[in-house]
Amino acid sequence: MTATEPALEHYPAINVRQIPFEFADDIDPIWHPKHHEWSHMLNGVSLAMPYLEPFLIATLREAAAEIDDADVLEEIAGFIGQEGQHFRMHRRYNEILKANGYPQLADVEAFMKDSYQRIRDQRSLTFRLAYAAGFESMTMGITRWLVEDRVKLFAGSDTRVASFALWHMVEEVEHKRVAFDAYQSAFGTYWQRALGVFTGSLHVFLLARRGTAVMLKADGLWRNPRSRLRLWKRTAEFFAEILPGAFRAALPGHDPRNEPDPEWARRWIEGYDKRPDPTLPPLINTFDGLLDVPFDEDGQPVTT
Ligand SMILES: [Fe+2]
Ligand SMILES: [Fe+2]
Repeated sequence: MTATEPALEHYPAINVRQIPFEFADDIDPIWHPKHHEWSHMLNGVSLAMPYLEPFLIATLREAAAEIDDADVLEEIAGFIGQEGQHFRMHRRYNEILKANGYPQLADVEAFMKDSYQRIRDQRSLTFRLAYAAGFESMTMGITRWLVEDRVKLFAGSDTRVASFALWHMVEEVEHKRVAFDAYQSAFGTYWQRALGVFTGSLHVFLLARRGTAVMLKADGLWRNPRSRLRLWKRTAEFFAEILPGAFRAALPGHDPRNEPDPEWARRWIEGYDKRPDPTLPPLINTFDGLLDVPFDEDGQPVTT
């Protein structure tokens, strides 16, 4: 446990936030005008969420029947609530992607749906829960990357997309321990959990990449060498950021609690939970040079 981590018994309850993000029809799928390929990388991840996250929810719900620990069962309820909000919001955003230039993404969605159905039909609960725990452990690397490199990745972009993506990451921090705890309570076999880090992460990466490729093909960029180089560069940055955490997650004795939470994410949670007006979506100022949390210390909005 790090100095900043609360002791287990003091871990705060998981807050299921119903955030009124709006995805207006005018959102440009190239939500970062200077980073075409990065826009589609994140769009590809968004496309996978309404298939991945219901799979995670169903897996943890099924695992709950194998678990007696009341604390873990309470965590699972919070996890299901948060992931349910995430995928519903991603589904709405993905509808905008399809309506605003990429109707062919419907075929990718059908592929994603079939892929998860096959896993549900053909794989054991142990495999599926190890996938869930592994993927969620790896997510901490993505969170650190997006939060700590937020200026490089989101400065000057559409705040509605940037704020939505960073909100999702904040809640991934908040429930980072849950799938792991569920796996440890229900099964706990080390090698399957270690394998799950890589099977879960690779599967989601390949699904998201399929969506990214379809969008870049539609834009006539898939065979453009400069575009491909930019895509590879950002993909290499992604792997450089997540692989150390993925290998840590695959070690015996791993506990997601030992992964430090980004300070920005903690301030976001504190600010959001104090905010006086829940009808305002927490929009970050993507032009302030810092992309600070969109609240002051009293929870009042500080935005564009
Ligand atoms: Fe999520
Ligand atoms: Fe999650």
